[in-house]
Amino acid sequence: MKVSIGCDHAGVTLKNEILPILEELSIEYEDVGTKDMISVDYPDFGERVSEAVSKGRVERGILICGTGIGMSIVANKFPNVRAALCYNSYSAEMSRLHNDANILILPGRVIDGAMAREIVRIWFKTPFEGGRHQRRLDKIKAIERRLMRHEDG
Ligand code: RB5
Repeated sequence: MKVSIGCDHAGVTLKNEILPILEELSIEYEDVGTKDMISVDYPDFGERVSEAVSKGRVERGILICGTGIGMSIVANKFPNVRAALCYNSYSAEMSRLHNDANILILPGRVIDGAMAREIVRIWFKTPFEGGRHQRRLDKIKAIERRLMRHEDG
């Protein structure tokens, strides 16, 4: 599995704390930045990761900003993206079981490294449950298609 990971300045510390977990899980990743604490705009990094997932260039993404809210707003604008803001093990597990989330959003200023590592482990090992949840995802896809048709005029 290939993963694209990105963050703004508020997410750099947490990103550096979870990269070793990706290596431990033998997950190939590209780090699209940012890589230092100089203030940047989260949409620039959110777009890189979300586009890669949206177009199928990578299977999954991870995005980190201060609250996780800005990155969530950006990521869920992209077709085929199901981005989930996770802050504990329950939300991480549910985002995979019920939502088949393909982008994990972490709040860099809210959770610590230990919690983030636990979330990442759970998120990658938990499969999608399917069944009634697939029906709900199909409805989301139908909304997406309808909105895209409106855009085309
Ligand atoms: C940056 O200060 C902060 O606004 C950003 O990381 C994020 O929390 C936005 O939603």
